[in-house]
Amino acid sequence: MLWSSLVGALALVAPTNALIRFGCSQLVVDRLDPLVQPGVEPSAHLHQIVGGNTFNVTMDPNNDIASMATCTTCQFSEDFSNYWTAVLFFKHKNGTYKRVPQIGNLGFDNANGGMTIYYMQDALYNMNQSSKVTAFKKGFRMIVGNPTITTKEDARKFRQITYTCLQDMATRGPETMEFPTSYCPAGILANVRFPTCWDGKNLDSPNHASHMAYPISGTFESGGPCPDSHPVRVPQLFYETNWDTREFKDLWPADGTSPLTWSQNGMGTDREGYGSHADYVFGWKGDALQRAMDSNCYVNCTTLKTQTMEEQNKCSLANVVKEPIDGWLPQLPGNPTG
Ligand SMILES: *[C@@H]1O[C@H](CO)[C@@H](O)[C@H](O)[C@H]1NC(C)=O
Ligand SMILES: *[C@@H]1O[C@H](CO)[C@@H](O)[C@H](O)[C@H]1NC(C)=O
Ligand SMILES: *[C@@H]1O[C@H](CO)[C@@H](O)[C@H](O)[C@H]1NC(C)=O
Ligand SMILES: *[C@@H]1O[C@H](CO)[C@@H](O)[C@H](O)[C@H]1NC(C)=O
Repeated sequence: MLWSSLVGALALVAPTNALIRFGCSQLVVDRLDPLVQPGVEPSAHLHQIVGGNTFNVTMDPNNDIASMATCTTCQFSEDFSNYWTAVLFFKHKNGTYKRVPQIGNLGFDNANGGMTIYYMQDALYNMNQSSKVTAFKKGFRMIVGNPTITTKEDARKFRQITYTCLQDMATRGPETMEFPTSYCPAGILANVRFPTCWDGKNLDSPNHASHMAYPISGTFESGGPCPDSHPVRVPQLFYETNWDTREFKDLWPADGTSPLTWSQNGMGTDREGYGSHADYVFGWKGDALQRAMDSNCYVNCTTLKTQTMEEQNKCSLANVVKEPIDGWLPQLPGNPTG
């Protein structure tokens, strides 16, 4: 379904509650990982990060991010959370790698790269958005996906981490677990949906994942109930990253092999993209997220303060790790071995 027709259809109903969809421009692309490798500089592989400018080598969960941050790259200016993923690289047949640029999504055309972020109460295409969800709390963080995964069997543990081959900017399907097998004229959308059932107690866990769970059956999208161990239904957090592959059109292999690799996997042991992963550090000001989820918000949200794209694009961080990340590189930053 085209996003534009979806929005058109939904404009006709008055949703009782909220789905918010917003752009966050690039904050920085850096080899840091404050969740998995806090204090380690540089971390094992490169990430692309959006959100508030308190992102750093170490992020103490006791800090009040929202009061420390001075800007955010996100459209909703009370959101100082950080959202990040690995970085996609194109591998040339001569053995060198180049970072695939990111572009703003449909509706966020002038964004400086970054991602589109969603918080949903019900499935994306459910017009009601009326189920009660509990917003994340101060200090909350989580990870989905696993950079060491190289097989479909392992990747299946994570529901709904997918790719969409964009024929144009509005393409929203089909989604595949593997990188697209041919060149996509408008780029590749990497889709990451987080688990939606929380244990109600822990803001984090040693592997940054076990305080969260998937519904007993199906997914959040299909309305499955949460397990007893993780009874609290939280918003479906969903990231879309538009990887703009257009500059590689003439270099794309004709034999169906994928020239893509995530930043953790320079040796190419994951040719399919099963190691897609993403991180979240909650940083909304006060109860802004809960208020938004309890309001009549659809995409836009007058309950929340909004800043202009120009202001979003102005917020950025200097790289902590000084190393080449652009141009044709003989190896990926950090030379990860997959
Ligand atoms: C990151 O942490 C270092 C060390 O604590 C500090 O000096 C620096 O100001 C922090 N950077 C940002 C952008 O907060
Ligand atoms: C690899 O190909 C790129 C793009 O054509 C070129 O700029 C680069 O110099 C080549 N590198 C090597 C080592 O051949
Ligand atoms: C939306 O709510 C109405 C009225 O409660 C219900 O009949 C309908 O099935 C719901 N639609 C979806 C997609 O859940
Ligand atoms: C959200 O707001 C923007 C800017 O005012 C507007 O262009 C867009 O159409 C709105 N989207 C929806 C779904 O209301």
